[in-house]
Amino acid sequence: MNVNVVEDYEKMSDMAAEIVIAELREKPDCVLGLTAGSSPMGLYQRLRKAYEKGIVDFSRVRIFTLSEYIGLGEDMEQSFSYYTRQNFCDGLNLSEENIHMPDGMADDIASECARYSKEIEAAGGIDMMILGIGPNAHIGFNEPGPVFVPETHVVELSEATRAANARFFDEPDDVPYWAVSMGMRDIMFARNILLLASGPGKTEALVMAVAGDITPKAPASLLQLHRGAIVIADRIAAKRLPGVS
Ligand code: GLP
Repeated sequence: MNVNVVEDYEKMSDMAAEIVIAELREKPDCVLGLTAGSSPMGLYQRLRKAYEKGIVDFSRVRIFTLSEYIGLGEDMEQSFSYYTRQNFCDGLNLSEENIHMPDGMADDIASECARYSKEIEAAGGIDMMILGIGPNAHIGFNEPGPVFVPETHVVELSEATRAANARFFDEPDDVPYWAVSMGMRDIMFARNILLLASGPGKTEALVMAVAGDITPKAPASLLQLHRGAIVIADRIAAKRLPGVS
């Protein structure tokens, strides 16, 4: 694991953008795995600017989103598909057939999960996976639990995760109880992984991810076994990491 500590959110986003832009230029048909949330917003804005300046081209880029709430359709603002369209796809020249998202409204959610993992495999896996981290060290919606779940699966969200995501909903009770998430194999098979962490809410999670035991009780800790995992954290998020003052 390559852990980088930078001054603040802006510097984190700058560094992340540099890495992703290099990947996009080297492999114009690369497959991106995309998280939702606040952490990658600065990165996505920088990618959009790079596209506007003609530095990168998305015509052959394929994207796979990491997770989705069950019961929220693409037209609902809180869904991750809506988020991804608004904050990533819109304004880029992605081709519609290259946009892949799990369908949280599918009638048969088990088949939808199986379909999604197969689709990732058929694309040849993810080249660059962009991750945030939950306060309980979840990635995607792989919640702490007794085992790592390898494939795309249905998850019952923990109270900590529902509380952390309540800011996006009118009422805390509106946060769905269930979600679909790529599994840990889908994530770990990515050739490169970029994990972004910023702010005081991520301090404990980052210690678990980077310096703690490798355990499904802290799903992000599995990234310690990934050769191409890069963590970019700002000083506040990283303040409890060993060796960071
Ligand atoms: C959510 C998402 C994750 C995301 C995490 C952190 O629960 N399922 O994919 O990384 O929260 O979000 P944020 O970056 O907004 O702190």
